[in-house]
Amino acid sequence: MERVITLDPQKMPKEWYNALVDLPKPLEPPLNPATGKPLTPQDLAPLFPPALIEQEMSQERWIPIPREVLEVYALWRPTPLYRAWGLEKALNTPARIYYKYEGTSPAGSHKPNTAVAQAYYNAQSGIKRLTTETGAGQWGSALAFATKFFGLECTVYMVRVSYEQKPYRRTMMEVWGGKVYPSPSDKTQTGRSILEQDPDNPGSLGIAISEAVEDAVTHEDTHYALGSVLNHVLLHQTVIGLEAKEQLAQVGDYPDVVIGCCGGGSNLGGIALPFLADKATGKEVRLMAVEPKACPTLTKGAFTYDFGDTARMTPLLKMYTLGHNFVPPSIHAGGLRYHGDSPIISLLVREGAMEAAAYYQTEVFEAGLLFARTEGFIPAPETNHAIKAAIDEAIKAKEEGEERVILFNFSGHGLLDLSSYDAFFKGELQDYELSDDEIKRALEELEKLAVR
Ligand SMILES: Cc1ncc(COP(=O)(O)O)c(C=O)c1O
Repeated sequence: MERVITLDPQKMPKEWYNALVDLPKPLEPPLNPATGKPLTPQDLAPLFPPALIEQEMSQERWIPIPREVLEVYALWRPTPLYRAWGLEKALNTPARIYYKYEGTSPAGSHKPNTAVAQAYYNAQSGIKRLTTETGAGQWGSALAFATKFFGLECTVYMVRVSYEQKPYRRTMMEVWGGKVYPSPSDKTQTGRSILEQDPDNPGSLGIAISEAVEDAVTHEDTHYALGSVLNHVLLHQTVIGLEAKEQLAQVGDYPDVVIGCCGGGSNLGGIALPFLADKATGKEVRLMAVEPKACPTLTKGAFTYDFGDTARMTPLLKMYTLGHNFVPPSIHAGGLRYHGDSPIISLLVREGAMEAAAYYQTEVFEAGLLFARTEGFIPAPETNHAIKAAIDEAIKAKEEGEERVILFNFSGHGLLDLSSYDAFFKGELQDYELSDDEIKRALEELEKLAVR
């Protein structure tokens, strides 16, 4: 029985898989925020290069990965697939648990899979600088790393609460030459007006996105890069699931359930979408999204058109959302504090092709500790959500006397999140669950938007 299942670099995927061709029904179109009409490719031109706009709407099943991108991927891909022997033993479960380890990338998470692709296409189209937002700092560091390989500058608006909780992520971005501002910042009109009303605003991904978009659209040589949510981001992440499928085939296994934590949906999409292709041909495989109860977008949000950011600058997307003004509680899984979700993931949940579960932050950290003490790797707080769900599945398999095969994505390591583990040990982590009233208030804001 193999503990580490490696993939021959020669077998690394050379194409990304485009799940738009296998969805249970077509996505509803994104809408222009000014006109409320379906978005045209030209509407996106101030933000993204032509190749990414094309990928966002492509109906090609397979999209070739450029040679220059494969050369950077080769630094850490293919990533290993592990059989979680230690965890299985501790749980005394008949389930076989596998995890795809994305912590080997230079930035420590899955995020470089799309950062490298986005930096490449932007550099190709003559862009000099990329702006972005970051929550936990994982995405910002991934983009700072990726831009270095293609001669671009990088400006990152980092959610203030994470900027304060995770100072070393900022240092990491600076090592790769990135410029980092705590958001809301005084660098943009959006940031300044929020700070005027609320100088202690902890920030949110929605606000940081507004700042990064404003910075990009007000500078000719600058584009914006989004670390999750959009179709092209999930597309780039499918290398995770494509590799995992190959690796499982090497040991003659196939998952009953595929699990990923879900902030905007990119690592989940990466691991799960290549299995959606099989599901579309009638194969039985469950797909599962895991989110925090403090930001329960898929489990308690509304499925409707909403803006991706607080200042209403982004296109309107049809997705599960808690409202673009929603500021989630300051939980330690900063990357899961987003009011919306990927339209692809949202549609799959809506159509019953994907399940969604939500957990409290302390039970999630307990799961992470059990994992670290049985498998060795210390997971990021976001990743702990997927681990908790995998553990629950393994326990259910034991109760039901079933040999379930569980695959989850280990989206990133937690070596720069040790202050969160410290807070957990000191008993300082609080379990937030949004009350029905709070959710109702957040959703009432959405009612005021004309589009449904
Ligand atoms: C390690 C890790 N996992 C998961 C996420 C959630 O993002 P997504 O849902 O796009 O994968 C993040 C976001 O920052 C992250 O850093």
